[in-house]
Amino acid sequence: MSKVHILDHPLIQHKLTYIRDKRTGTKEFRELVDEVSTLMAYEITRGMPLKEVKVETPVAPATCHVISGKKVGVIPILRAGLGMVDGILKLIPAAKVGHIGLYRDPDTHEPVEYYAKLPSDIEERELIVTDPMLATGGSAAAAIHMLKEKGAHNVKLMCIIAAPEGIERVQKQHPDVEIFVAAVDEKLNEKCYIVPGLGDAGDRLFGTK
Ligand code: PRP
Ligand code: URA
Repeated sequence: MSKVHILDHPLIQHKLTYIRDKRTGTKEFRELVDEVSTLMAYEITRGMPLKEVKVETPVAPATCHVISGKKVGVIPILRAGLGMVDGILKLIPAAKVGHIGLYRDPDTHEPVEYYAKLPSDIEERELIVTDPMLATGGSAAAAIHMLKEKGAHNVKLMCIIAAPEGIERVQKQHPDVEIFVAAVDEKLNEKCYIVPGLGDAGDRLFGTK
């Protein structure tokens, strides 16, 4: 069973409160999602391997460390996952970005694919799939399945809010994928929205509805 990391850093939890608040408008919502994504990226990269390098400081030679290992790919699930990309790229600016377009069918709540454009070398990269909401888990599970079909074998999932149902589905279908979330909420309602959640992440990010 894959591990679930709940990122309970006080800055993340503080900002998440304002993200949830229905009075928070589009501009501020976008900024907060961006900031939380940067903070989550800091945590998600904690296990990255390092290698030794030598540098000359102005005073003396020094043995230091730089990140080694696989390069990163960020894979937002459209639309709402886009809101998390820039926040991650602030810390990992050389990461390549692939896009997977999925929307939930309003009746069945199952994901429908409408777009995919991925870096050519995903099998060599450490991939971070982003989506603010992990509700039924259908969208995330389908996106990860698509990546694996194209050769990916190193995938992490980064969501802001998850429902227990979504975590369970991803864990069941992708036991190798570690899940990073800022909060695990109570449940899904009859429309498969997360309760209490934050509403519709895509609409709040882009000012639609
Ligand atoms: C939302 C959200 C996830 C999905 C989560 O996207 O951003 O992608 O629903 O639900 P699930 O876990 O039950 O699949 P939506 O389909 O509303 O599309 P949007 O991002 O274009 O608004
Ligand atoms: N998608 C959202 O944007 N919000 C939810 O609560 C569930 C799915």
